[in-house]
Amino acid sequence: MMTPAEEFLRDYHDRNPAAASELADRGRVGGRSVYEAFADHVGQPGSVLDLGCGDGALLAVLAGRGTGKLAGIDLSAKQLDVARGRAGLADADLRPGRAQELPFEDDSYDAVVSHMALMLMSDVEKVIAETARVLRPGGAFVIGVGGGGTDALEVFLKVARPLFAVVAEDRQIPTSGDPRSRTREGLDALLGPAGFASVEWHQLLVDLSGPPDSVWQTCHDTYYQVDALDETQLMGLRTAFKVASRSLVAPDGTLPAGALINVATTRLT
Ligand SMILES: C[S@@+](CC[C@H](N)C(=O)[O-])C[C@H]1O[C@@H](n2cnc3c(N)ncnc32)[C@H](O)[C@@H]1O
Repeated sequence: MMTPAEEFLRDYHDRNPAAASELADRGRVGGRSVYEAFADHVGQPGSVLDLGCGDGALLAVLAGRGTGKLAGIDLSAKQLDVARGRAGLADADLRPGRAQELPFEDDSYDAVVSHMALMLMSDVEKVIAETARVLRPGGAFVIGVGGGGTDALEVFLKVARPLFAVVAEDRQIPTSGDPRSRTREGLDALLGPAGFASVEWHQLLVDLSGPPDSVWQTCHDTYYQVDALDETQLMGLRTAFKVASRSLVAPDGTLPAGALINVATTRLT
């Protein structure tokens, strides 16, 4: 059964089926897309399952690099509809559902990946146990989790946090995820008992700089809590952000903004 947080995530992504990949595609890691940079850590396994695959942007990159057997699971069926239209994913096994209960066979994938999704999952021990079950012995688990914002994103959070805290109780976004899945130590503690080796830890610095209005939109789209704000609160936040970020704007009009994605890679021992 879905938790309230999962129901929120399903409804949010059903309403905005392309939001996650559009947001990621606004960023650049050394001039390339976030998905391309993340896929470098996955390599070219013969088969991959993506937990919280969204609209299939990462799976499409892996298909383009030669992975033949592709599967994904996500709470939001509308995103999976978008994924089915992507190049290389016509035969992908895309299932609506929860990563805590994987509808896949034991020992059936060379790699399991999860980009910006594991960190949102509750009962994460169950997700990891299911991952260990469906992975072949020696299979890889590659996890991308948010590592915070820099420059304008940092400013945005500073001005937004007090506003998020005063949203009426009946509009609050349910808290999702387990904080342990965001840190190296937390992931090691979760993964070790399920039979995984200690994680290797890498960082992707995503450049989200641009004209102030587009950076505002990026900040707006990055945090689910913005969805809980009413029109007046949103206008207030926009003004506060504009004022607080003004001094960062470069002479050419660019507002610097960045986000860190921590990539943990491990193998089933
Ligand atoms: C920030 S989006 C990232 C989507 C995609 N991985 C990407 O990078 O474009 C997080 C995704 O995780 C999915 N998700 C969250 N919890 C989940 C769960 N327990 N089982 C399956 N999917 C989940 C959400 O529905 C959403 O599509």
